[in-house]
Amino acid sequence: MISSSILTIFKYVTVAVAMMIMMMMIGYISSVDGFSSSSVPPPPPPISVPVWSFATTTTTTTIAATIESNTPCPPTTTTSMNIMTFCTPVSVSSPKLWALSFYDGTLTKDSFLGTRSTRNNSSDNDSNNDNNTNVSKNENNSNNNRINTGVLQLLTYNHAQLVKVLGKKSGRDINKSIACQEAGFPWWNNKMMNKKNTRESCDDDDNNNHNSNTNDCTQHQLLQNSCSNCIDFDLLPGCALYIQVEWQPSSSPLIDAGDHVVAICEVKRTGIWKQEDNKNGGIGGQVLWSDDDELLLNNNDEEEDIGNNTAMSFLRLRSDGLDESNALYSGQLREVGII
Ligand SMILES: *[C@@H]1O[C@H](CO)[C@@H](O)[C@H](O)[C@H]1NC(C)=O
Ligand SMILES: *[C@@H]1O[C@H](CO)[C@@H](O)[C@H](O)[C@H]1NC(C)=O
Ligand SMILES: *[C@@H]1O[C@H](CO)[C@@H](O)[C@H](O)[C@H]1NC(C)=O
Ligand SMILES: *[C@@H]1O[C@H](CO)[C@@H](O)[C@H](O)[C@H]1NC(C)=O
Ligand SMILES: *[C@@H]1O[C@H](CO)[C@@H](O)[C@H](O)[C@H]1NC(C)=O
Ligand SMILES: *[C@@H]1O[C@H](CO)[C@@H](O)[C@H](O)[C@H]1NC(C)=O
Ligand SMILES: *[C@@H]1O[C@H](CO)[C@@H](O)[C@H](O)[C@H]1NC(C)=O
Ligand SMILES: *[C@@H]1O[C@H](CO)[C@@H](O)[C@H](O)[C@H]1NC(C)=O
Repeated sequence: MISSSILTIFKYVTVAVAMMIMMMMIGYISSVDGFSSSSVPPPPPPISVPVWSFATTTTTTTIAATIESNTPCPPTTTTSMNIMTFCTPVSVSSPKLWALSFYDGTLTKDSFLGTRSTRNNSSDNDSNNDNNTNVSKNENNSNNNRINTGVLQLLTYNHAQLVKVLGKKSGRDINKSIACQEAGFPWWNNKMMNKKNTRESCDDDDNNNHNSNTNDCTQHQLLQNSCSNCIDFDLLPGCALYIQVEWQPSSSPLIDAGDHVVAICEVKRTGIWKQEDNKNGGIGGQVLWSDDDELLLNNNDEEEDIGNNTAMSFLRLRSDGLDESNALYSGQLREVGII
C-alpha cells in the first residue's frame, strides 16, 4: 500500500521534474529567441499571394520636350507600372475598398499618390534624375479633390518573367514599356478603343496633340475631371483580371508603413482580357470592362456563341474565382527562383 503510493508519488515527481525541465528548456529557447529578436521581431514566413502589377499615369516634363517645344507647359503623359507586393481587398460591399501599399521612392507611388520621394538615397537613384524628369503631377497640393486612377493587373503564370522588369527596376532607369515589349508583352492602350467607339469625353485624340500645347494641358485636366473612368495610360496584355481603383486624397488619408505608404482605394470596375487574333506579332486582344458598351453590344450579337460571350466570361470568373490555376502567385515565383 505505502510502497505503491510512494511509487505513485515518485512517478508524479518524475513527471513534474521532467515537465519542469522541458518548461525550462522551452523558456530557455524562447528567451534566447526573444533576446536575439527583441528589437526587431522576425516577419511571418512568406505567404503565397497573388502577384499584381499596378499601372497608373505619370506626368513628366522632360528637358528635351521643353527645349523642343520652347514652352514650359507641356507635360508628357506616360505610363508608370510596378509590381505591387502588398495589396488586398478590405471590403466587398459598397464601397468596395482595397488597401494598396506603395513602395517608397518608386515612380508609381509618386505618380499615383502625388508625392515626391522622401528617400534621398534610394537604389532607385531618383534623386539624381530630377534634372531630366520632373514629376509634376500634384505639385499643387491644395488640389485635394483630384481623383487618382490606377489599374491593378493580376498577372498570369505567362507573365512570371516580367516580375524582373516590373518589380526590380525603376521606371526612372529603364523604359519598362520597351522592356515588356522585348519580353513579348507590348503594352496595350485603350486609346484605339476610344477612337473606335468615339466616346466623347474619353476621347483624347492624338491628332490634337500638335495643335496647341496649352490646349493640351487644359484638355488633359478636363479629361481627368470629367471622366473618372478614363484610362490614359497603357495596360499589360493578357492579365487574369484588371481592377480599376481610385484614390481621393481628401477622403482617404495615407497610412505610413515605414518604407511603404498604404492608400485605401475604391474599386470602380473590373475588366478581363479578351483574347483576339494576333495582329502585330504581339498578344492580340483587348481589355473589356464590366461596364463597357462593347459588352452589351456583344450580348445582343447575332452569334449565339455563349462560350465566348464576354458577359458570360465575367459570370464564369465570378463563380469560379481565381487561384494558382489561372493567376500567378508569389509561391510560384519562389519555386522558380524569381523571388
Ligand atoms: C538625406 O536624408 C537624411 C535623413 O532623412 C537627411 O538627414 C539628409 O540631410 C538628407 N540628405 C540630403 C542631401 O537631402
Ligand atoms: C546611401 O547609400 C550608400 C551607398 O548605397 C550607403 O552606403 C549609405 O548607407 C546610404 N545612406 C543612407 C542614409 O541611406
Ligand atoms: C546614380 O546616378 C548617378 C548619376 O546619374 C550615377 O553616376 C550612378 O552610377 C547611379 N547609381 C546607381 C546605383 O545607379
Ligand atoms: C542638374 O542640374 C544642376 C544645375 O543645372 C547641375 O549642377 C547638375 O550637375 C545636374 N545634375 C545632373 C545629374 O545632370
Ligand atoms: C523641376 O522642378 C523644379 C521645382 O519645381 C524646377 O525648379 C525645375 O526647373 C524643374 N526642372 C525641369 C527640367 O523642368
Ligand atoms: C492650385 O489649385 C488652386 C485650386 O485649383 C488654384 O486656385 C491655384 O492657382 C493653384 N496653384 C498653382 C500654383 O497652380
Ligand atoms: C518608352 O518607350 C515607348 C516606346 O518607344 C515610348 O512611347 C514612351 O514614351 C517611352 N517612355 C518613356 C518614359 O520614355
Ligand atoms: C473563343 O475565343 C478564343 C480566342 O478568340 C478561341 O480560341 C476559341 O476557339 C473560341 N471558342 C469558341 C467556343 O468559339
